[in-house]
Amino acid sequence: MSSPLFLLLVVAVFSCTAAPIIRPAATVLVTGATGRTGRLTYHGLKSVGYNVRGLDLNRTFASSVLGCGACTPEQGFWEANVTHGSGLAAPMKGVDALVIITSSVPIKLPNGSYGFPVGGYPQDVDFVGGQNQIRAALAAGVKHILLCSSMGTTTPNSFLDLLGNGQIGFYKLNEEAFLMSSAAAAGVDWTIIKPGGLTDDAGGNATLRIGSEDSLQEPTNMVTRADLAAVFVHAVQNRAAAANLRFDLGSSPGAATKDFKALFASARELMA
Ligand SMILES: *[C@@H]1O[C@H](CO)[C@@H](O)[C@H](O)[C@H]1NC(C)=O
Ligand SMILES: *[C@@H]1O[C@H](CO)[C@@H](O)[C@H](O)[C@H]1NC(C)=O
Ligand SMILES: *[C@@H]1O[C@H](CO)[C@@H](O)[C@H](O)[C@H]1NC(C)=O
Ligand SMILES: *[C@@H]1O[C@H](CO)[C@@H](O)[C@H](O)[C@H]1NC(C)=O
Repeated sequence: MSSPLFLLLVVAVFSCTAAPIIRPAATVLVTGATGRTGRLTYHGLKSVGYNVRGLDLNRTFASSVLGCGACTPEQGFWEANVTHGSGLAAPMKGVDALVIITSSVPIKLPNGSYGFPVGGYPQDVDFVGGQNQIRAALAAGVKHILLCSSMGTTTPNSFLDLLGNGQIGFYKLNEEAFLMSSAAAAGVDWTIIKPGGLTDDAGGNATLRIGSEDSLQEPTNMVTRADLAAVFVHAVQNRAAAANLRFDLGSSPGAATKDFKALFASARELMA
């Protein structure tokens, strides 16, 4: 039995079946990557093996929160302002999935009310900046575009809208509409997650709740940034399950959600 020829055949067959399929990891770009949700999503995608790129306003800050060294494009980081359409083509090149986590951020003024920096209003960052990113992604052939929006867009002049009178919910809703229509027209998959109130508590410790059109009420309309980031990671990993879904995300104390495909299926059921 153990003739040299037999051994040779066994070795040949074994080394054929065992030969690894060399498939480069898919590339994912996270924009707004240095924010609190952005960095958790960036690191989460890295930990499951993706080739992850980041884009945000400040490479020095990126170096400290993303660990991308000097954070040059060679190191997978692009310092760019999304309100300028230019500068978005290079980071999108060769990208399979884009996760848009950029957002305007209200700032507290000395008199205690809120405002936005010039050029950093919701209309600039969420609407114009969102459109710029979506257009650049579609032009580059990105296959899946994911967007972090916000719960609470069904109520005009909500407390969020009134911060600096930026009308943030209105502009995020328009960003969502632009993504849904332009991606659908291009045959590109999209996923829109609308989280409720965000906290910095530990993730993986709550039952995630799916809602639609602000159906989640207190206290289930709160979710940790870590859990939100985990939903983005699973949505990238399970593109078919998460394709063309738009849902509110909250949570409640209880058994940690482990089956994300079932979570996406429940969101699809709600949309039907
Ligand atoms: C960029 O980030 C660094 C480190 O956090 C900070 O010192 C610097 O002021 C930031 N630059 C701008 C233009 O905000
Ligand atoms: C606070 O200051 C801003 C900017 O100067 C101003 O537009 C706003 O009206 C002030 N708010 C109040 C309540 O005084
Ligand atoms: C981004 O670009 C806008 C428009 O040019 C500008 O007003 C804004 O200051 C820029 N933001 C930053 C943080 O550089
Ligand atoms: C997880 O939730 C339980 C029950 O609400 C709580 O006692 C525990 O401290 C939480 N753990 C973390 C890491 O947040």
